[in-house]
Amino acid sequence: MTNQQIKAAAEKFEALLREQLKRVDEINNAGDFLDYASLDTLIIGVVGGDGIGPAITHQARRVLEYLLKDEIASGKIEIRDIEGCTIENRAAKNQALPDEVLSELKKCHVILKGPTTTPRKGDEWPNIESANVAMRKALDLFANVRPVKVPSQGIDWTFFRENTEGAYAVGSKGVHVNDDLAIDFVVTTTEGTERIARLAYEFAKKNNKSRVSIVTKANVIKTTDGKFLDLCRKVASDYPEIETDDWYIDIMTAKLVDEKRRRDFRVFILPNLYGDIITDEAAEFQGGVGTAGSANIGKRYAMFEAIHGSAPRMVKEGREKYADPCSVLRAAVMLLNHIGYNDRAARLERALDICMYEEKKLVMTGRDTGATCEEFSDYVMETVNRV
Ligand code: IPM
Ligand code: MG
Repeated sequence: MTNQQIKAAAEKFEALLREQLKRVDEINNAGDFLDYASLDTLIIGVVGGDGIGPAITHQARRVLEYLLKDEIASGKIEIRDIEGCTIENRAAKNQALPDEVLSELKKCHVILKGPTTTPRKGDEWPNIESANVAMRKALDLFANVRPVKVPSQGIDWTFFRENTEGAYAVGSKGVHVNDDLAIDFVVTTTEGTERIARLAYEFAKKNNKSRVSIVTKANVIKTTDGKFLDLCRKVASDYPEIETDDWYIDIMTAKLVDEKRRRDFRVFILPNLYGDIITDEAAEFQGGVGTAGSANIGKRYAMFEAIHGSAPRMVKEGREKYADPCSVLRAAVMLLNHIGYNDRAARLERALDICMYEEKKLVMTGRDTGATCEEFSDYVMETVNRV
């Protein structure tokens, strides 16, 4: 390897270090959580995304409009569509999150988002960063909160996945040093770790959750995971009434399928990549990623999304009107809770449980053998009236 190649790589590394140190300053200057109750008008932005996204988010918008009728009429809440977060537009602009989309998002307070296509090397799109990841970074949505519940099996889990650091922080800025060597980077900051740990413990305390489990691979990834674990432990010491344990990601992945042990877990804190992987596994117990919603929480903004993909094949086959809106409706429940409409969140959640698991008067099959997305949303709204 030539000295020149090493020097070029070192320069890229230096630029990353400066960028990350700047981010630490920004975290320190971020101020406190926005108080939604103090706003004259709270703005909810709806991002359709790609594939089946526009069809399902349109239905979620109808359900929100139904539940928030009075507040919308009085001007206390406004719901607006945010256009342009499509793979076609993102590819044309060669930006993960086009500037004009980001500036519209920044005019909102909370966002409901459908799935967006994440290009991969070799497909028809330029290999730009995922829109989710870009949005999480641009709006500093540092906590990815994913609940999974299967009451009949005693499963009641809430995952707090760190959302802006770890392997994702500079995931699209690794360095091809030369033909033989590629290097990626993992980032842990004190500020970034403390804020996710604090949020998880505060959640546990407010919701009477008896246990918090910290999940890392600190035995091998000693520097960044080691720091993450130490800092979470430090925050834990402020909450002596909550039991804290820590696990390595490999054995935790196994314990989630251990029927005798898994019902003991309540709240999890994880670095970004482990959180990504384990929340898909966890969602599978309650019926798959299509049934789960995800909250991306920051101090100023918050975004709520379906955690499944954009299902381009359904659109190609003209089946998008049969797409299942349940994941994005679960995201709407989290949105309502986050902005303080807890009673309506609870009613929507109850209605979804009835429609999806109990009464099941309509079933989604993804094709014309089942209900359409619109019919199912009507069913959910009728059910909301009964609970
Ligand atoms: C998720 C998704 C994203 C992630 C993808 C689409 C980039 O898997 O929200 O979990 O890896 O975070
Ligand atoms: Mg994922």
